Amino acid sequence: MVNQHCNLGMSEVTAPLIMNVTVVHHPLIQHKLTLMRKKSTPHILFRQLVNEVALLLGYEVTRDLQLEDREIETPLETMNAPVMPDNKLCIVSILRAGNGLLDGMLTLMPSAAVGHVGLYRDPETLQAVEYYYKVPSDISNRLTIVVDPMLATANSAIAAVERLKQGGAGPLKFVALLAAPEGVQAFNEAHPDVAIYTAAVDRELNDHGYILPGLGDAGDRIFGTH
Ligand code: PRP
Ligand code: URA
Repeated sequence: MVNQHCNLGMSEVTAPLIMNVTVVHHPLIQHKLTLMRKKSTPHILFRQLVNEVALLLGYEVTRDLQLEDREIETPLETMNAPVMPDNKLCIVSILRAGNGLLDGMLTLMPSAAVGHVGLYRDPETLQAVEYYYKVPSDISNRLTIVVDPMLATANSAIAAVERLKQGGAGPLKFVALLAAPEGVQAFNEAHPDVAIYTAAVDRELNDHGYILPGLGDAGDRIFGTH
């Protein structure tokens, strides 16, 4: 996997040189993303692929987790072995499409606590409208991984992270399947402390705030609601 800070090729006038985004170029992720992009892919397969890519992105986003040594007994002797400390992780799904990534993340991190931020994008203004918020009470002590398949204008992601920070969240990371350069830039400007992990940064947004070439409406494709 390539772990990199990306210059997205925008001009120095409009974009900072360093973007806080890691594009995970693993071949399995890129192959699965291509299958998801195809309009002929049915929602059952799409949902399964989102789940599989969540596992692979989850592997990358947890790469720098701190472990602690605990004394254990092997069948042969006592040793100090590295383990994940208890109560260290929280995964926050931005409803509804974030739930597509949640299962894969929980397969990898089964003991993580889970929060939900319910947001939808107003189709006229493209502003995020909140309708639900519930996170663990000890979120400030945890690394919070926010998941949403699409980072388009980033209005939803920016609002969710603002809400989480107001609610006392500690360190945060953001995972998206796919991002637009406009969204990466807006998110970096609003939350420079929150690293983005994604499978690809596409070309641009269209006039309706959809990512091009993109994969369409992620929520509809996960849940079969077109
Ligand atoms: C989609 C997607 C993100 C948001 C991204 O959600 O899952 O939450 O749009 O767009 P933005 O970066 O321009 O804010 P949508 O509003 O379609 O709701 P859904 O998850 O209920 O389908
Ligand atoms: N939300 C989606 O589901 N897809 C996009 O391309 C943009 C926002």
